[in-house]
Amino acid sequence: MKIMFIGDVVGSPGRDMVKKYVPELKKKHKPNITIINGENAASGKGITERIYKQFLEWGAQAVTLGNHAWDKKEIFEFIESAKYMVRPANFPEGTPGKGIVYLKFNDKEIAIINLQGRTFMTPIDDPFKKVDELLAEAKQRTNIIFIDFHAETTSEKQAMAWYVDGRASCVVGTHTHTQTADERILPSGTGYITDVGMTGPYDAILGVEKEAVIKRFKTGLPVRFEVDKKGNTQLNGFLVTINEKNGKAEHVERIMINRDHPFFS
Ligand SMILES: [Fe+2]
Ligand SMILES: [Fe+2]
Repeated sequence: MKIMFIGDVVGSPGRDMVKKYVPELKKKHKPNITIINGENAASGKGITERIYKQFLEWGAQAVTLGNHAWDKKEIFEFIESAKYMVRPANFPEGTPGKGIVYLKFNDKEIAIINLQGRTFMTPIDDPFKKVDELLAEAKQRTNIIFIDFHAETTSEKQAMAWYVDGRASCVVGTHTHTQTADERILPSGTGYITDVGMTGPYDAILGVEKEAVIKRFKTGLPVRFEVDKKGNTQLNGFLVTINEKNGKAEHVERIMINRDHPFFS
């Protein structure tokens, strides 16, 4: 079976790319499950119910989040009823929402886990301890387990992948918004990429208007970061083919669509 994952969707330029290309990519690659990271989907910060539902309409079966999960206040009103929304599982006990979601696939299930790193990020619960708990729980139901690890550093993401090698089918990194070219399958069968990259503004800095970011670096003054709407756009994603019998990854592939890497159907 095949899972397609779309990296951090940023604002309306990102949503437009999802709407335009996810159906095309589904035609081309025929994934059984499509997952979207939506932590930046609403004007770069957080997600709304309308956008969550649009993602499902446009072809996703689950939406993962990250450190921007709570940026739009309305999340607290709909997250408990959003069956296919996954927020970092290692947020402190008592946090709304859930960190693991099970999807049906034929007579099987697929577990989707979202975790967040701690290095150079808000201190939260230990993602390594949490993943042990969740893998033990998921293994009771399925051996097809997909993890979106939302983290800042390459080392923490690599550590997570090696830690779960042979226990999870795939670990994809998100959050740093720039796709890495290190996709691989680890020796015990876990598919991996350090960062899938983002979906949205392309002639921008991580999705934000470049002028503001440059000004911030040059002056240190406070500036307002807005999603860039002037330039080109991009979509970055990842495909993993998983052996349904043993839950191991058999093939991994990056998806990159932008002006410099055009899409061919
Ligand atoms: Fe992000
Ligand atoms: Fe993030």
